[in-house]
Amino acid sequence: MNITIVGTGYVGLVSGTCFAETGITVTCVDVDQNKIDNLNKGILPIYEPGLEPMVKRNMEKGRLFFSNSLKDSILDADAVFIAVGTPPDEDGSADLQYVIAVAKEIGRYIDRYLVVVTKSTVPIGTAEKVKATINEELTNRNEDIQFDVASNPEFLKEGAAIDDFLKPDRVVIGTESQRAQEVMSKLYKPFLMNNHPVIFMDIPSAEMTKYAANSMLATKISFMNDIANLCEIVGADVNNVRRGIGSDSRIGNKFIYPGTGYGGSCFPKDVQALIKTSEQRGHPLEILKSVELVNNRQKSVLYKKIMTHFDGNLKGKKIAIWGLSFKPNTDDMREAPSLVIINKLLSEGAEVIAYDPVAAEECHRKIGDTISYAKDQYEALIDADALLIVTEWSEFKLPNFKVMEKLMREKLIFDGRNIYDLYEMKELGYTYYSIGREIVKKESIG
Ligand code: UDX
Repeated sequence: MNITIVGTGYVGLVSGTCFAETGITVTCVDVDQNKIDNLNKGILPIYEPGLEPMVKRNMEKGRLFFSNSLKDSILDADAVFIAVGTPPDEDGSADLQYVIAVAKEIGRYIDRYLVVVTKSTVPIGTAEKVKATINEELTNRNEDIQFDVASNPEFLKEGAAIDDFLKPDRVVIGTESQRAQEVMSKLYKPFLMNNHPVIFMDIPSAEMTKYAANSMLATKISFMNDIANLCEIVGADVNNVRRGIGSDSRIGNKFIYPGTGYGGSCFPKDVQALIKTSEQRGHPLEILKSVELVNNRQKSVLYKKIMTHFDGNLKGKKIAIWGLSFKPNTDDMREAPSLVIINKLLSEGAEVIAYDPVAAEECHRKIGDTISYAKDQYEALIDADALLIVTEWSEFKLPNFKVMEKLMREKLIFDGRNIYDLYEMKELGYTYYSIGREIVKKESIG
């Protein structure tokens, strides 16, 4: 089989490479010539564990190609996947201009039956718009070529995207014809053979499934964050509460970890877009408005704790930050809580020095030299008045506390991810703030 993937961003590149891995011939297309040139040299525009060798291997095997010509690549394609960006408009709704531009081009060059699949997260009703756009082009060309549209949302997590694609919990496919369903079944046959469920449904339901899944997960996180904040007030420990509720299989133990708020390219954008759709359709989803509000508030929780600790005066304080990316194992800084925290610290006159295993460069691109960057986690601590843990990279989980206390001015940690044990912090004599748990004060040792 032959497919074309349009858009070599995160979704397009991971999907294209993984499809190639299953033996399909894939051409990934992008209008950005520079990106294509780099990809042809094996240079990737994103960091994702395991992706680079997989791209190279499939290129060498002659199954994965990169091109800037959609026209050439669709001539022998069985399906074209649209995986271009859908950035939020000013009002929060998804901007479909790139999706529609691709649909137009497909309409201009399609010369035989193929399935046009939306893979980007697109609002409900987009497949219909893609169909109408292609039909318009075909009418202009005076051609009557058969095609189908389909919706095949992705559920990739950054940092685990290859596994998520190759060993999915489920594949969701919305189609409206038997013919399209057959093409999609063939494409996903390797997954079916390995007992990963492939769920066929109508197109609007497939489009809705993606938003409902991400919004449900975001809701779990915001709920837990707010419970954590209440735990602090009533003297409960959110870790215990999390274990207590997570063992109920109806609730489940995933996505109930409190923290500094969710970020990334999906949750914030998708929650906003679903709120917008619900408002436009006259059924505002009040729950999601609260989810968003709680998340925005949560991004400031660590900062508020610092302000309280230093009696509202951060002038001249040197604050070390461990972790900048919105979550571990990625260099993605989109909607990262660290950006909100840094901004607030700087506006209060603090000096910030940060360390992140991979995201420093990306952070520098966003905020330049407003902060300094350490080359390792311990260097960041030299003369620091406090350490803030914003992202739970593995290497932060078992640090050498003895070395740390020699470097820092104060044994003071604000942990936005609850990665340390309260008892251990007490034993070590640190003042330790975390999320939804008791504050450990130096004097409380013993
Ligand atoms: C998410 C979805 O998981 C994925 O299915 C979808 O396709 C894209 O959006 P991603 O944004 O890569 O993936 O990251 P994910 O691991 O889901 O984490 C999202 C955010 O939630 C991160 O900021 C993370 O720190 C936060 N989170 C996650 C929590 O705060 N607590 C949790 O318990 C889980």
